Amino acid sequence: MDETEGEPARRPSTQAETARANRSWWDADAADYYEEHGSFLGDAELVWGPEGWTEAQLQVLGDPRNLAGADVLEFGGGAAQGARWCALQGAHVVSSDLSAGMLARAVDIDARRPGPAPELVQADATRLPFAEDSFDVVLSAYGAVPFVADSAGLMTELARVLRPGGRLAFSTTHPIRWAFPDLPDEAGLRAVVPYFDETPYVEEGPHGRAIYVEHHRTLAHRVAEIIDAGLRLVALHEPEWAPDNRETWGGWSPLRGQYLPGTVILVAEK
Ligand SMILES: C[S@@+](CC[C@H](N)C(=O)[O-])C[C@H]1O[C@@H](n2cnc3c(N)ncnc32)[C@H](O)[C@@H]1O
Repeated sequence: MDETEGEPARRPSTQAETARANRSWWDADAADYYEEHGSFLGDAELVWGPEGWTEAQLQVLGDPRNLAGADVLEFGGGAAQGARWCALQGAHVVSSDLSAGMLARAVDIDARRPGPAPELVQADATRLPFAEDSFDVVLSAYGAVPFVADSAGLMTELARVLRPGGRLAFSTTHPIRWAFPDLPDEAGLRAVVPYFDETPYVEEGPHGRAIYVEHHRTLAHRVAEIIDAGLRLVALHEPEWAPDNRETWGGWSPLRGQYLPGTVILVAEK
């Protein structure tokens, strides 16, 4: 993500600092984010990432007809477009997000749009206000996972609210991208930092105060966190750039999409 204005640094950041910084950042950025990306995302589509693929195309969650009657939780849902798509398939949906600003965009969409509106909940995905075994499907497109320090704890929390036999699916920045500058052009094609260095990316304001934080895990560590949470990994997708997608999103571009994966989608079952 490139929409920040602070001084970039690589340094440790606790879960508390990360959550405080990112809540404020997403609150402040919510309007600009939807101005810039809202039409690409649609109001009621589950778009898995800047490559441009939708759930209707990839069917990461399986046959969409199986969503009818299912209890679905979207975490880090932003304006809840993914949850809205699931609702159109007949699911009972809750969309949650850390940021009131992002949830306000969901309220705006539901106010102007006919059709089923998801239940909206403000929550840090590492501490969800739901009982265990509450959902058949737990999903997110780029929500929360890159933005938490305790990603192992996040996996455990997502597993807790999932029913036995239920499915977790989430997309996040492909870990290999951390070795490359976050630039959409040729400069973003040359590895400059070690892939194995998991030091967080922190944008700092005055006095070193974190105003935006992203966390990196190698692919091996992401998979290990899923397994350690008691889940069974059932698929790992590295979607190629969609041929008709001309949209550049920060460091994600048609050019880089020819050479490097930008998104990983991990799918697991309880
Ligand atoms: C890149 S946006 C993705 C939003 C939406 N899924 C989409 O595709 O537009 C990341 C979202 O994660 C949310 N987020 C960040 N940290 C979170 C946390 N700890 N718990 C829940 N949501 C979080 C942000 O508020 C933001 O809405």
